Amino acid sequence: MLVRQIPVGPMANFVYVLVDEESRESMVIDSGWEKDPVLNAVHELRADVKYAVATHEHFDHTATLRELAGALGAKLVAHQASPIASDLRVGDNDELSLGRKKVKVLHTPGHTEDSVCLFDGKNVFTGDALFVGTIGRFVRADAEAMYRSLYEVLMRLPEGTLVYPGHDYGEVKFRTLGEEKAANPFLKAGDARAFTSLFS
Ligand SMILES: [Fe+2]
Repeated sequence: MLVRQIPVGPMANFVYVLVDEESRESMVIDSGWEKDPVLNAVHELRADVKYAVATHEHFDHTATLRELAGALGAKLVAHQASPIASDLRVGDNDELSLGRKKVKVLHTPGHTEDSVCLFDGKNVFTGDALFVGTIGRFVRADAEAMYRSLYEVLMRLPEGTLVYPGHDYGEVKFRTLGEEKAANPFLKAGDARAFTSLFS
């Protein structure tokens, strides 16, 4: 799979275009504030976008998603718990096909109830669940759910998986899960209690 990481907007959001090189079938992950840089990348990559996926409901990730999906003739995809009006509602472990490849939806609540990560076997797109060096703390976040999503879902992926976050908040723009586990204090906390004390 080919990954294009696109910085957008005033909150250092990252939007992604994920392309199956063989078929050119693609998905856009989030859309943030601006759709034009995404449309330009889609054009440049000759991407045939089937899905426009929301990692979670927040405005900075979804402001132009409906417009973008319409412009690309793509289905707007969101988790079944999401307040976003979607064309396709997905749940944990559902798969989206790009050509002969599959992208798995991982339900990772905590930052919000409708947070999902997308895993293609090599790359994971984490929205606001996990950033380089930190996590998506948020005033209405659920720390216990976040702990389970990180420790029981994301941290069980292969160590070499590349973590692509929803914001450019780290010292690098992406890195492996193994590097993240070694450096991110939230992933080093160990148990739920230590994690929750860091969270508050
Ligand atoms: Fe968010």
